[in-house]
Amino acid sequence: MDHFQYKDGVMHAEDVALPRIADEVGTPVYVYSTATLKRHFRVFREAFARINPLICFAVKANSNQAVLTTLAREGAGADVVSLGELMRALKAGIPGERIVFSGVGKTDEEMEVALNANIKQFSVESEAELEALNSVAARLGKIAPVSIRVNPDVDAMTHAKISTGKSENKFGIAWQKADAVYARIGELANVKAVAVNVHIGSQLTKLEPFKEAFIRVIALVRDLRAKGHDITHIDLGGGLGIPYAPDAEVPPAPSAYGEMIQEVMGDIDCDIILEPGRLIAGNAGILLSKTIYEKRGENRTFYIIDAAMNDLTRPAMYDAYHAIAPVNEPQANDPVVADFVGPVCESSDVFAKDRKTAPLKRDDLVVIKSAGAYGAVMASTYNSRPLVPEVLVDGDRFAVIRKRQSLEDLLALDALPSWLSDDED
Ligand code: LLP
Repeated sequence: MDHFQYKDGVMHAEDVALPRIADEVGTPVYVYSTATLKRHFRVFREAFARINPLICFAVKANSNQAVLTTLAREGAGADVVSLGELMRALKAGIPGERIVFSGVGKTDEEMEVALNANIKQFSVESEAELEALNSVAARLGKIAPVSIRVNPDVDAMTHAKISTGKSENKFGIAWQKADAVYARIGELANVKAVAVNVHIGSQLTKLEPFKEAFIRVIALVRDLRAKGHDITHIDLGGGLGIPYAPDAEVPPAPSAYGEMIQEVMGDIDCDIILEPGRLIAGNAGILLSKTIYEKRGENRTFYIIDAAMNDLTRPAMYDAYHAIAPVNEPQANDPVVADFVGPVCESSDVFAKDRKTAPLKRDDLVVIKSAGAYGAVMASTYNSRPLVPEVLVDGDRFAVIRKRQSLEDLLALDALPSWLSDDED
């Protein structure tokens, strides 16, 4: 359930009519709902009431500090993958003890800052990274808490570009090799094994692949404990999917996911970390856009809107489906079939093909739904389009939480070399 609904014929975000935001901030603009963010976080937490996990929001899904602060106040931790994300999480008030650091290419600098922040766990993805982490920790006189991210070689049955748990993917260490790597941790002075972690992919719509992976991880934890490693927790990653299309398969509810996890854990006495991203933020945000033109082609109608693939790249990159709805509630039942496209000069700048929609005219507002995760964070300035702004709604108030990049700022990032400047002698 989300809080983007029609009221008196106009779509609102909570109690704010979207045309108000379009008037004050312009379009395109991302709009997030505080109530939906909180609701998703609470529903997820309640699905695990018995095991009381540490829920580390995957910052890559939506890294706006207002969003992170909202979740931090609900008790969220953070799963970060770069120095930038780590700094955002810390600035949002998430303490180091609630931060886990994932990613295959952590640099010495990133490790150093994370060690100084006393983070909960480094999710180590290769032997080379383990050695590097040990060296950085030794230099700082610290002991790094390590979890090995195991690659369980499980097919997540999701889009190939968001699958991470097969042996051909770059992520994690083959689960058959994990034993040897934990043995190596025992030999190194400045790393300590505290956990095992796994993340097999994103937008999963079935429980079975999770279950298969988690069973492997739990067996490994039992084995490692028997060998004397003090494994205190298991990090089961993120990945639970959300409903994007009205007629698509409905992903399992968080409660079913929670029950499955409690079942596979059995009597193992271990703390649990989870890293949901999309499930919390995806349906808590929309991209608000405006129709620029209607264009009638040979045999199709295009609605050219002012948002484009640089603002929301998921359809172009993953063939992702996003529902699109007019802000003014359609009255008559006379839908047309049209393609929604952006102004960018790429054939892949298409948000929807052959979509049934109420007819639109110039300046009509539309929303692209389910855009709160992997939306603004993946935006670029392609075609010299400034980065899109973000707005957070809370009840009947709203605030700009990232302002629209100005063209001046965008252009000022470039610099002319001396030999091309007019003022060179
Ligand atoms: N933990 C790790 C280690 C991850 O790599 C990810 C996502 C997550 C947690 C969160 O997964 P979630 O709960 O959000 O599914 N840009 C793509 C998604 C890439 C996901 C990458 N890793 C998209 O727009 O579909």
